[in-house]
Amino acid sequence: MSTLTANVTRDAALKTLKQYNAEPFHIRHGLTVEAVMGWMAQELGHGEDREFWSLVGLMHDVDFEKWPEEHCVKAPALLREAGFSDAFIHAVCSHGWGMTGTDCKPEHQMEKVLFACDELTGLIGAAALMRPSKSTKDMELKSLKKKYKDKKFAAGCSRECIAQGAELLGWELDELLDKTLRAMAATEDAVEAEVAANT
Ligand SMILES: [Fe+2]
Repeated sequence: MSTLTANVTRDAALKTLKQYNAEPFHIRHGLTVEAVMGWMAQELGHGEDREFWSLVGLMHDVDFEKWPEEHCVKAPALLREAGFSDAFIHAVCSHGWGMTGTDCKPEHQMEKVLFACDELTGLIGAAALMRPSKSTKDMELKSLKKKYKDKKFAAGCSRECIAQGAELLGWELDELLDKTLRAMAATEDAVEAEVAANT
């Protein structure tokens, strides 16, 4: 049985996301992290909380487009107003731990996964665009590791944050890269369809 509740449906969540985000880039990122979080919930034995994990992924950057300086600080008020639960708000805010003004630390495994995967999805997405296929589906872990090590590639995706996320989870970096790549490859078609429908 699910132990976590967002208190808000996915339709309502998406509406709130769009209320505060106009840039297709941000909508795409939310939809990507939503899919990765859902895949991870299943993979890690939290299938009963899959919807919660997914919605946290969808909404995690809700305040970033309009309030980049108050990222994770503005989010609680926006999410509370939209009816989200306290557990949900904690999960969203904890992904900015150590980097923004929030003092929420990732505690639940779901929060650690979000913290670890957020920047990494950006790196994997950028690496996919360099490929003839423009896809994650034929990308090998070996080539992702090369991109990860090349600090000049997708320099905005913090390697420090990704490595810290793996450490929080108690995973080797390779395990995090492998799982996140597999999550993105498995959900790529579904995400593209969602992006087309929502941007
Ligand atoms: Fe993010």
